[in-house]
Amino acid sequence: MNLPSRPELGPTGRVGVLASGKGSNLRALVEEGVGVVAVATNRPDSGAAAFARERGIALGLFPQRDYGGSQARDEAMLAWLRDQAVDIVVLAGYDRILSPDFVSGFPDRILNVHPSLLPAFGGTMDAVWMALQAGVKVSGCTVHLCDAVADTGPIVLQATVPVLPNDTVESLHARIQVEEHRILPEAVRLMASGRVRREGDRLIILDPLDAEPLELPSGGSG
Ligand code: GRF
Repeated sequence: MNLPSRPELGPTGRVGVLASGKGSNLRALVEEGVGVVAVATNRPDSGAAAFARERGIALGLFPQRDYGGSQARDEAMLAWLRDQAVDIVVLAGYDRILSPDFVSGFPDRILNVHPSLLPAFGGTMDAVWMALQAGVKVSGCTVHLCDAVADTGPIVLQATVPVLPNDTVESLHARIQVEEHRILPEAVRLMASGRVRREGDRLIILDPLDAEPLELPSGGSG
């Protein structure tokens, strides 16, 4: 019997990515076939911005200096993402906390990836360093729904990696990122296919047969 090798592949909707850093998660999303139609960044010189330019993906530049405050920047970013008809927003190394208005603009449709097993080492840009300092023997990454507080919100997927005796921040982060690049596209697909159901503060992943695909106003291309 010929089984499809990638049964999870399916429409992902129109995905908007917010990124500030080197952009390896953005690249993984695109290379895994996620329908990334827009990239917004607060750092025009970032690797993520360069990747969007290289691939001809619509790029929105929102450097803080152009706005009176983060509220005004987030309002502009929300309007721009709406103009791009984005269904799902992914924070892929975005280094600013989003305003509550932005978060409620995409209710339960914002995913974040964090380089630790949340709730351990959340709310920090130094999660990998903190894990090493704590002497944990396993670490990993978490994809979660975003609420208005940094690195909280119900967990969609997690993956673990071992912490080795001679690890540095760089070596452990590199091992974690291999897993980020795997579970982030998977989480977007789960969400677009309606297999992620919120029950209070927890998410459950439904069997494909029980899923009701997310309503994708844009038509669900991707
Ligand atoms: C990732 O480790 C992610 O978990 C964190 O920021 C980093 C972004 O990396 N939120 P990249 O820019 O996607 O390479």
